[in-house]
Amino acid sequence: MREDTQSRSPVPETCDPIQPTVLVLDFGAQYAQLIARRVREARVYSEIVPATISAEELAARCPAALILSGGPASVYAPEAPHADPRIFELGIPILGFCYGIQEMAIALGGEVPHTDLGEYGFAELTLLGAGESEDDNAVRVASLLFEGVSQGSACWMSHRDSVGTVPPGFVATARTGQTAVAAMEDPVRRLYATQFHPEVAHTEYGQQIIENFLYKVAGLEPSWTMASIIETTVADVRAQVGDAHVICALSGGVDSSVVAALLHRAIGEQLTCVFVDHGLLRKDEPASVVKVFRDQFQVDLRALDVQDRYLALLAGVSEPEEKRRLIGEEFWKIFFEQAQALAEGGKPVQFLAQGTLYPDLIESGSKTAAKIKSHHNLIPFPLGVHFELIEPLKALFKDEVRQLGLELGLPEHIVWRQPFPGPGLAVRIIGDITQEKLDLLREADAIVREEIDAWDSERSVWQYFAVLPDIRSVGVMGDERTYGHPIIIRAVSSADAMTADWARLPAELLAKMSNRIINEVAGINRVVYDITSKPPGTIEWE
Ligand code: XMP
Repeated sequence: MREDTQSRSPVPETCDPIQPTVLVLDFGAQYAQLIARRVREARVYSEIVPATISAEELAARCPAALILSGGPASVYAPEAPHADPRIFELGIPILGFCYGIQEMAIALGGEVPHTDLGEYGFAELTLLGAGESEDDNAVRVASLLFEGVSQGSACWMSHRDSVGTVPPGFVATARTGQTAVAAMEDPVRRLYATQFHPEVAHTEYGQQIIENFLYKVAGLEPSWTMASIIETTVADVRAQVGDAHVICALSGGVDSSVVAALLHRAIGEQLTCVFVDHGLLRKDEPASVVKVFRDQFQVDLRALDVQDRYLALLAGVSEPEEKRRLIGEEFWKIFFEQAQALAEGGKPVQFLAQGTLYPDLIESGSKTAAKIKSHHNLIPFPLGVHFELIEPLKALFKDEVRQLGLELGLPEHIVWRQPFPGPGLAVRIIGDITQEKLDLLREADAIVREEIDAWDSERSVWQYFAVLPDIRSVGVMGDERTYGHPIIIRAVSSADAMTADWARLPAELLAKMSNRIINEVAGINRVVYDITSKPPGTIEWE
């Protein structure tokens, strides 16, 4: 029967993907990203597509398996997104979670009655259809999906409606106290689904269930490793670039550093990196970037000291948006001057490398997030300037980029660098910018980072730095009255910088930083700690 189903499959015969891909159909909310990450943790490559993709489009992408995500809507809501029912005829193994089990049930002739009794939070999973063994905790089940999963383990539920009658050909394979069909399957057609969420950490055997589906049901291998990513990306870049020349703006941040290291491995001397030292960087940063890329990687690195140019440009400018605009425009002017100089020196640049990441590109199927996120790293090219883009990280999440950086031999201080705004210290000096203020802030900031680095070995604090406000206050040091600058310490916890909370640093750590800053940085006579979350504040002060 499986033979028959597969012979009717519209999956193109040309499908022979070098990299087997699991596509996650996104029914909204944040579940799809989490699922893609779990699949990738199982070392299988995964991408997200909108839930409403047609069966033809889906088949053309040659997926090795599909996962239907959960979603915030009820399947009966008028605006609810729906999968093309023909995807269930493609002969591709499918696993559905939560909203996904309900979609599958309705599309294939089952019933999902409205109930007033939902189930939220932890539930105990009872596996069905089992030939019971002597040990109750290790009940053996017929379902491949639940191999190695203990009877009575915890799963995470979040639903109101649930499957009442499974579709023809399916059997229920698990239940909980409130939910009669906590899982169902048609192993012949390789269609599986759970009402609970295996992708969340609260589901005790969640990762095991996902891996059972990938390895045992879909027959995939855990072959998507950092080494294989490097190998395929290097091959792709070589094929795209040929013997042309590539330019890359290196900031010393994680993304641009990994792009540079990867491209250097792929095309060696065909790569030129431009590092603009505008004087708004943190202490010792320019020297360390140059050391890593020139000495360790031997990249053709144009390191430009344009500090004076920027001081003159920013003199007397206090308005935050004006500062950002001037800094950004000048940066690209300098960058394009370098591209021009390379062309005049016989190395015309055809490609520009960028550190775009996967979350920048993800399309969501949900109504509220239906737009493609704005491509924030994209550079506004000046009129008449054309480069083709190379974006070697565009399939990766941030933590994968960090792993890749380590695999490529980048030092930890670059790989684990905290986010740092493009306009640098300029947005941490409130008011106009002078050399004196930059020097004060750089020293104070170095102390903040050194002390929190030493205390936070687990990297629990997302971002921490010093801010120099545009005020002075009276103090007393020794027997002398002082009239000096304060320093604001900002330290936040966050998952993605969209929201943040101020870090509950221990009083002793705050005291130590305050002491050191006042003793070691002449001109600072007061230290305060910012206890504002985001919202209502932002992480940066400008
Ligand atoms: P806010 O201040 O908006 O910052 O809460 C959120 C995150 O973005 C970083 N940030 C920037 N990053 N260019 C960047 O590359 C910028 O202009 C910029 N401004 C803010 C900020 O450090 C925080 O991590």
